[in-house]
Amino acid sequence: MTVRPAHPMGAERPQAGVQKARSTAAKGRNARAFSVDSAGDEGYGAASSPSASRPDEELTMTNKERANRETRNFYARVASDASIVCPVGDEALIAQAMALGYAEEEIRRLPKGALVGLGCGNPLGFAELKKGETVIDLGCGGGRDALLASQRVGGKGRVIGLDMTPEMIEKAKANAREGNYRSIEFKLAEIEDLPVEDGAVDCIISNCVINHSPDPAAVFREAYRLLKPGGRMAISDLVIEGELSQEVRRSLAGSSACLAASLEKHAYLNAIERAGFQDIAVLAEHPFSWGGIDPRLVGKVTSVQVKAFRKMRS
Ligand SMILES: C[S@@+](CC[C@H](N)C(=O)[O-])C[C@H]1O[C@@H](n2cnc3c(N)ncnc32)[C@H](O)[C@@H]1O
Repeated sequence: MTVRPAHPMGAERPQAGVQKARSTAAKGRNARAFSVDSAGDEGYGAASSPSASRPDEELTMTNKERANRETRNFYARVASDASIVCPVGDEALIAQAMALGYAEEEIRRLPKGALVGLGCGNPLGFAELKKGETVIDLGCGGGRDALLASQRVGGKGRVIGLDMTPEMIEKAKANAREGNYRSIEFKLAEIEDLPVEDGAVDCIISNCVINHSPDPAAVFREAYRLLKPGGRMAISDLVIEGELSQEVRRSLAGSSACLAASLEKHAYLNAIERAGFQDIAVLAEHPFSWGGIDPRLVGKVTSVQVKAFRKMRS
């Protein structure tokens, strides 16, 4: 099956340095850790809204920080104008979500703002969430998957959506308010350095996010760290199929630029394994494309649905 929803990064990629935002990555984990038992907005999110960086900050930024800044700037725009990346109109958005594997009834029950046309699969389709579980959504965007997870874990469960783009977090919070969702919170965070205590989470979900990360190995290490023994990770993501030369990667632009650093499928799965996960299974995979894809990527982008577990004892 070839699914053709909007591209995860949309039709345009911002130029480096167009808008400067202070990176949150330099902050120590302990300084911004929050407990999954503590609700409220005053934690990490409140302390880390981006602000314009100074020229000296620009000089000291690492490549990772620059990459995340570009991605953040792009998704800030998507949050206020989803037509950059997705079809216009409620019915088109519903059809797109259904093409990714969501059931029509569950999608129609969501607040309208939760559908922003992003994602490359449906991790909830295989996360097997249960009442009372604690779930984290890495790169929650407008909150669609976190809201759906919250319905599944119920009032005794807990869902935390994390995203590094303040505008997305605001959107997700507004959607949760509109739908009167409880047991859910949204916080600003970079997924390479998660503000969550060790061993606190039953299930991690993520949808088309880790492919954006300049350091996916760090993301998988963090995911492993915060899962309870026996906990699971259920992710949909994009990987590169086969070889893609450095030259091609460097020259990717426009709607294809976000895949410039994406891992080849085997490297992606190896990174999960190296983080410590076991019973890693690719439950489904299919070619993925979008309007305006760079011709050199045609047939080389795959959406994978991956499930993996933290060992019972490590
Ligand atoms: C393609 S969208 C997917 C959003 C959501 N998962 C969905 O399916 O609708 C990617 C999201 O990941 C977030 N993101 C990308 N890289 C990130 C990172 N390193 N740390 C935290 N969030 C990140 C972006 O801000 C954006 O909201």
